Amino acid sequence: MEITGKVFVVTGASSGIGLAIARALTDIGGKVALLARSTDALTEIAASLPGSFAVTVDVTDFDALRKAIQSVNAHFGQIDGLINNAGRSYAAAIEEIDPEIFDEIFHLNVLAPIVAMQAVIPIMRAQGSGSIISVNSGTAFMTIPQYGVYSSSKRALLGFTQTARAELAADGIVVGEVYPGITATNFGKNRMGNPAGGGPAANYAAGDTPEYVAEITLTAIVEGGAQYYASDYIKKLAGA
Ligand SMILES: NC(=O)c1ccc[n+]([C@@H]2O[C@H](COP(=O)([O-])OP(=O)(O)OC[C@H]3O[C@@H](n4cnc5c(N)ncnc54)[C@H](OP(=O)(O)O)[C@@H]3O)[C@@H](O)[C@H]2O)c1
Repeated sequence: MEITGKVFVVTGASSGIGLAIARALTDIGGKVALLARSTDALTEIAASLPGSFAVTVDVTDFDALRKAIQSVNAHFGQIDGLINNAGRSYAAAIEEIDPEIFDEIFHLNVLAPIVAMQAVIPIMRAQGSGSIISVNSGTAFMTIPQYGVYSSSKRALLGFTQTARAELAADGIVVGEVYPGITATNFGKNRMGNPAGGGPAANYAAGDTPEYVAEITLTAIVEGGAQYYASDYIKKLAGA
């Protein structure tokens, strides 16, 4: 899908990969709706991105998420793309998993992307086209001690994203996924659970830049393929 002149909803646009995607889309003439919980950060970012529209929302509040997407449609009069990017991790061994945090992670990483898709599908169907991208994770293809909840949430996201791709193709709505590896964002800092957990220590600062992941995401939107990987290593793990 062409990006210039199109309207994109980006969840988790207040930092890291989502922010880099919002900037990259704006740089080539896209208009972005910035969704996240941090109002101050969003206000500052919106001021630096011409034509953008900031909506403070906790995407795990599904009514609020639906209303946020309706407000984007009311503001721009169209929604051409959805980037389901907001996400968080949780380090806990199986015997330590807190069911409430499990729920929180699955609401954020799996159910919120589904609810966001449900909100944009009728709009995109009426327009006859659309692009929906899930920001997944290379961990969807890995078994990492203490990462059971996170990696399983991303495996579930993979399943729902691929199913949506099959269901929506006939409507001209193209659904795809991007698989980052370790990326230099606040992701490690924002992880819940065991501070020392999560298997081999991930050195996030030495990871890929969020701009690199944004570039792959823009390629995914333009080309419309099913899955895009940040490295050959992840691609091989995926069996692709
Ligand atoms: N960094 C990595 O190494 C890595 C690797 C593979 C995949 N990923 C995936 O990349 C995506 C983006 O992560 P990141 O690395 O950019 O991490 P990040 O810097 O921590 O950004 C996470 C974003 O999600 C938003 N968010 C979190 N909870 C939210 C909620 N309940 N409602 C609305 N927004 C919420 C945060 O904004 P607020 O706090 O303002 O709400 C923030 O904008 C995630 O899906 C993650 O799983 C990251």
